[in-house]
Amino acid sequence: MTRSLVLLPGDGIGPEVVAAAEVVLQAVCRKFSHQVETRSFTIGGAALRAKQSVYPDETRAACTAGEPVLLGAVGDPAFDHLPREQKIETGLLALRFSMGVYANLRPARAWEGLEDATPFKPQRTAGTDLIIVRELLGGLYFGEPRGIASDGQSAYNTMKYSVGEVQRVARVAFLLARSRSKRLLSVDKANVLETSQLWRRTVNAMAAEYPDVALEHQYVDAFAMNLALNPTRYDVVLTENLFGDILSDEAGAVSGSLGLLPSASLGDGGALYEPVHGSAPTLAGRDVANPAGAIGSLALVFRHSWKGEDEARAIESALARTIREGHRTADLVAPGQKATSCSQFARLVAERI
Ligand code: NAD
Ligand code: IPM
Ligand code: MN
Repeated sequence: MTRSLVLLPGDGIGPEVVAAAEVVLQAVCRKFSHQVETRSFTIGGAALRAKQSVYPDETRAACTAGEPVLLGAVGDPAFDHLPREQKIETGLLALRFSMGVYANLRPARAWEGLEDATPFKPQRTAGTDLIIVRELLGGLYFGEPRGIASDGQSAYNTMKYSVGEVQRVARVAFLLARSRSKRLLSVDKANVLETSQLWRRTVNAMAAEYPDVALEHQYVDAFAMNLALNPTRYDVVLTENLFGDILSDEAGAVSGSLGLLPSASLGDGGALYEPVHGSAPTLAGRDVANPAGAIGSLALVFRHSWKGEDEARAIESALARTIREGHRTADLVAPGQKATSCSQFARLVAERI
C-alpha cells in the first residue's frame, strides 16, 4: 500500500533531524515492504525567505489535505524583531490551527543507558514513562483580545477556554489513560484562574463516562515540582496550552535532553508530528543535533496515522537499542567526550530496524 507523508523541514536543525527521520523511514519501508511517498514544503523562516510568507498557500494546501505532516522545527533569530503577525512562530500556530490539531501528545521517558545524562538521581527517574496531553489550539496562545497598547506601556493577552474545547482534548486524555495505566492527572491553576475552574469542572463532569480511569488534579506549580521529584508517579497528564508547553520542556530534562522528545498533534482530521524541541540555531548546519525526537515522531506517524503499531515499535526499539549501546549525540555527552553525529545516529538506528 502506498502512503503519503508531507515533510516540513523548516529552520535551523529542522532539516537535519527530518533528514535523519527519512533515513529511518527508508529502513522501515524496506523491512515492512511499504511504499511511502514524501513531499517537502517550506515553512517558517525558510518560507519567509523563499516565498515571503511564514506559511505559504501551497504548504497550507498540502498540510490540510488529510495526509500526516512531519515538521522539523521553525525559528530563525534573524526574524525575531518582526511584529507578531509576521513572526515565524505565528506560522507554526497557523499550521496547527489550520490542521485542527487540538490534542498534542508529548511522551517522555527515562532511557536505559542515559542514567548519568540527566541532573536527576537515576533511582528517581528510572522507569519514567509518561505522556503530557497538551491542549494546542486555545488558551493564551489564541485568546482575543491581545496586543500592545498604542503608547507601548502595557500589553495584554487573554486566556480563554470553552467547555467544548476542554471536552475534546480531555476525551483524548481519558481514552489514552484507559489504554495505559488507567490513571489521569489533570493539571491546572484552579485556585486562581477562572479558565482553570471551568477546566476542572468540565473534566470532573466527564469522569463519570470513564469510571475505570482514576482522575486526579494538581495545581501546575505543585506538579512542576512533583515532576522533578517523582516523575515515575505519573502516566497521562492533561493540561492547557501554555502549562503543557512549559512542563514538556521540563519532562525533556527528566529524560536527559529536549532533543529526545517526540510529539503527535491530533484532531478530528489531520495529524501533525514534530519533535518538541525548536530550531536550536547555535547547532544548525553542524550535524550535531539529536534526531531522536524526530525519529520518535516518525514512530508516532505509524502508530496514530497508519495503524502501524509493529512499525512504531520497531522504530522505538531500534532507537532504545542505539541509546542503550552507548551512542550519544553531543547534547548527551560531557564536554570533550566523543559524540555521534546526527546523520550517523540516524544510520545506526536504521541498521537496527
Ligand atoms: P530550542 O528547543 O531550539 O533549544 C533549547 C535548548 O535545547 C538549546 O540549548 C538547544 O541547543 C537544545 N536543543 C534543542 N533541540 C536539540 C536537539 N535536537 N539536539 C540537541 N540539542 C537540542 O529552543 P529555543 O532556543 O528556546 O528556541 C530557538 C527557536 O526555536 C526559537 O525561534 C523558538 O521560537 C523556536 N522553537 C520552535 C519550536 C517548533 O518548531 N516546534 C519549538 C520550540 C522553539
Ligand atoms: C513548542 C514551541 C512552540 C509553542 C512555539 C515555537 C510557538 O515552544 O512547540 O513547544 O509554544 O507551542
Ligand atoms: Mn515549547
